[in-house]
Amino acid sequence: MNALLEINNLSKSFQLHQLNKNIKAVEGIDLLVNEGEFVGITGKSGSGKSTILKSIYGTYRIKSGSIIYQSAQFGKIDLAHATQRQMLYLRKHEIGYVSQFLNVMPRTTVRELVQQSILERGVFLTQAKEETEKILSHFELDKELWDSYPTTFSGGEKLRVNIARAMVKKPRLLLLDEPTASLDQESKLKVKILMEQLMAEGTTMLGIFHDLEFMNHLCNREYNMHNGVVLS
Ligand SMILES: Nc1ncnc2c1ncn2[C@@H]1O[C@H](COP(=O)(O)OP(=O)(O)O)[C@@H](O)[C@H]1O
Ligand SMILES: [Mg+2]
Repeated sequence: MNALLEINNLSKSFQLHQLNKNIKAVEGIDLLVNEGEFVGITGKSGSGKSTILKSIYGTYRIKSGSIIYQSAQFGKIDLAHATQRQMLYLRKHEIGYVSQFLNVMPRTTVRELVQQSILERGVFLTQAKEETEKILSHFELDKELWDSYPTTFSGGEKLRVNIARAMVKKPRLLLLDEPTASLDQESKLKVKILMEQLMAEGTTMLGIFHDLEFMNHLCNREYNMHNGVVLS
């Protein structure tokens, strides 16, 4: 099997200046994700799970260690030392990230958001339009909402848009940070169906899930975190 992502000895701490305190979020993390796998990260709140995903996505700059990603565009690249330009390219074309929080542009409709995401793959507008309607229907987002702004949506609706947007990109690597945390059972099921579809199309996933049962049916392997280190 080919490694898509290999993390070695990753450490990240936060300096809280006003408290004159240094918080170790994670330390000495080794983690491997092979192409085509679905790898899970479990562990209590505060154990460092999100820090790992944010370090991969470049939201956090790490103190030490390496995050080797096998990029289609750049070949082997250490995400810990990638340039901002490279990181932006990868976020646009190769690495997706979904959390339970929606961060969208203001005054952009749902339809525009999803369409934009699809267009970034380099497809034609007609195809993007078609795909947009398909995924919005899949998530059973009320048709009346398609042309309105998600800022006014309920939490569950926002989340569905968020997930739809990440999934239409068909990223090579999809990072999931408890994306289903506030979804009802039915919506979770819809997410699951799409995740299985994406995997069948070749997306590799690294995900944190609140709902362990949900994850168990999908995961190939899991890393269990405790106080910033991997237990198993
Ligand atoms: N931006 C930040 N600033 C300060 N401390 C942080 C920050 N992000 C995470 N931490 C701390 O790092 C530790 C791990 O957090 P996190 O990775 O979010 O855990 P988890 O996702 O497992 O709940 C926690 O003690 C948390 O308070
Ligand atoms: Mg977290």
